[in-house]
Amino acid sequence: FSLQKHNTFGIDVKAKKFISVKTLQELKDVLQENKSVFLLGGGSNMLLTKNIDKTVVHIDLSGVIVNNQDENTVEVTAAAGENWHEFVLWCIDQGFGGLENLSLIPGNVGTCPIQNIGAYGFEVKDTIVSLEALNKKTLKIKTFTNADCKFGYRNSIFKNEVKDRYIIINVTFKLTTKDHQTNTSYGAIQEELKSIKNPSLKDISNAVIAIRNSKLPNPKEIGNSGSFFKNPVIDISLYQKLKEQYPEIPSYPVSETQVKVPAGWLIEKAGFKGKRFGEAGVHSKQALVLVNYGNATGKEVYEIAKKIQRKIKTEFEIPLEIEVNVF
Ligand code: EPU
Repeated sequence: FSLQKHNTFGIDVKAKKFISVKTLQELKDVLQENKSVFLLGGGSNMLLTKNIDKTVVHIDLSGVIVNNQDENTVEVTAAAGENWHEFVLWCIDQGFGGLENLSLIPGNVGTCPIQNIGAYGFEVKDTIVSLEALNKKTLKIKTFTNADCKFGYRNSIFKNEVKDRYIIINVTFKLTTKDHQTNTSYGAIQEELKSIKNPSLKDISNAVIAIRNSKLPNPKEIGNSGSFFKNPVIDISLYQKLKEQYPEIPSYPVSETQVKVPAGWLIEKAGFKGKRFGEAGVHSKQALVLVNYGNATGKEVYEIAKKIQRKIKTEFEIPLEIEVNVF
């Protein structure tokens, strides 16, 4: 079974078997029948470099429920298989605020907490109340509160302590129905919205969509996984040294001793932006994104990533960490 249509990088690897599960019972049955499975959500944050000699389980649980509502807020529980962007648009149509900055992010609801998706001054952790996950071994459901998830920048407990132990089956978000706390501080959003006085949730979402479309390749046209690397956090001392050499280096404060620098800037400075190596390459409008022009193998993409990591290490003394899951 080819997984090409099931990963946004569009890599053509084969799975021994492919099963799409639509109910919790189906999921439990599959786990009982198979000792070891490979889980797939939206396939938007992974690079497949070899065939998968296991049953691939596609989580296709669907449904959205609106529960607790008070004067200003609402709690919405969405099943793991719901497409993220469609869910965001649905919330905006209901007048529910909180997720508009995360418009157009590829992937599904069930994977958004794993890497705590974030963009344009906002991280999904700020709206997550809790989530339910199925323990792969015991088949028991456990509720993780927001604190239990140990969210960080592109990080959570699901990438660390309990990695590969649970399958997220639904996520509950707390959203606003009035007095929306919108965040339009990101420069490019302000630019997009400059002619609009009181931007609505829809206006903000449209601005985000326009910015993403201008910088990020559409996975339906050019295979990619969004940011391939994390933005590295470095010591102030190294940052000051770099600043002497590159006065224009952008940075965001993290603590008194550390700053975050954009990996995209480093990669561009190192000369990789827009570079093509065979069927794969570095996107021409955002150097943080690696792309598959059509027939790249996962290994080819991974080789480029390693080349970039080596160059950034020698030029800037910075180790770049890969953000996508490499199989
Ligand atoms: N930059 C360059 N060259 C590039 C790309 C960026 O010089 O090729 C510079 C920009 O000029 C700017 C800075 O780097 O000064 C930051 O760029 P940008 O605003 O595009 O954001 P980013 O830090 O590169 C992060 C997220 C994106 C998210 C944007 C917007 C990570 C790893 N990536 O990118 O997330 O959309 O901010 O908030 O934190 C994703 O994770 O898939 C993703 C797209």
